[in-house]
Amino acid sequence: MQGEMPATRAYSPVARTLHWIAVAAVLVMIPVGLTMSYRGNVLDIWDGLTNGLYSAHKLTGFLLLWLMVGRLAYRLVHGAPPDEPTLAWWQKAASHLVHWLLYGLLIVVPLLGWIGVSLFPALTIFDLFDLPALAKPNEEAAKRVLSIHGKLALATGALALVHIGAALHHYLILKDGVMRRMLPWAK
Ligand code: HEM
Ligand code: HEM
Repeated sequence: MQGEMPATRAYSPVARTLHWIAVAAVLVMIPVGLTMSYRGNVLDIWDGLTNGLYSAHKLTGFLLLWLMVGRLAYRLVHGAPPDEPTLAWWQKAASHLVHWLLYGLLIVVPLLGWIGVSLFPALTIFDLFDLPALAKPNEEAAKRVLSIHGKLALATGALALVHIGAALHHYLILKDGVMRRMLPWAK
């Protein structure tokens, strides 16, 4: 039944803004990461475009790390609105698990990228400045860390697809209030 009043509360404007900025950043980071690494490592083209993509990837990922740290702190302090009352216990459990995994991955993945470029070392962004180094140079370790970085990034993408699928399922098929909680224009 659709009532006059919304049945549940939405996420706060701050939580929604941070969610959608992070979504936009992740949707850019994964294709840019795959493209730059393919052009560089597979095609062996190290031109201005490849290097520019690396710089953009490192800088955006570095900013996303701090956005996610802030977002996690905000979440821990302010909490989230109570779950949609129509959800089954397993839907609540599964969504909480996926949400916390996404928070964790979006901090661990950029951190591993940053550690990786510290070890390599490849800290320079657009020939303008360097990110602070987190470790002493060690190219072998850099390759291992960046390989884990890439695999966990793809795992994050896969989990995000599950999350997006669930959101669309609630919105288009179940037509319950779950999606409304996170929409930019939610009340
Ligand atoms: C949440 C943020 C991030 C996501 C989703 C992400 C995603 C990715 C993806 C999908 C790849 C390609 C992996 C592959 O080729 O299989 C990649 C590669 C790479 N990422 Fe990230 N990344 C993030 C943050 C960062 C940060 C902060 C840095 C460094 C400051 C970084 C440095 C790198 C480097 C150097 C590579 C290339 C590795 C190579 O050449 O083999 N990434 N990233
Ligand atoms: C089109 C894409 C997306 C849609 C439609 C969407 C939708 C939603 C919705 C409706 C919620 C609230 C769920 C609830 O109330 O239980 C939510 C929460 C969340 N989403 Fe997304 N999402 C999208 C993409 C992403 C991506 C790409 C990520 C990260 C990789 C992400 C991370 C999160 C996290 C961590 C939460 C939990 C928020 C919290 O409780 O603090 N979302 N999303």
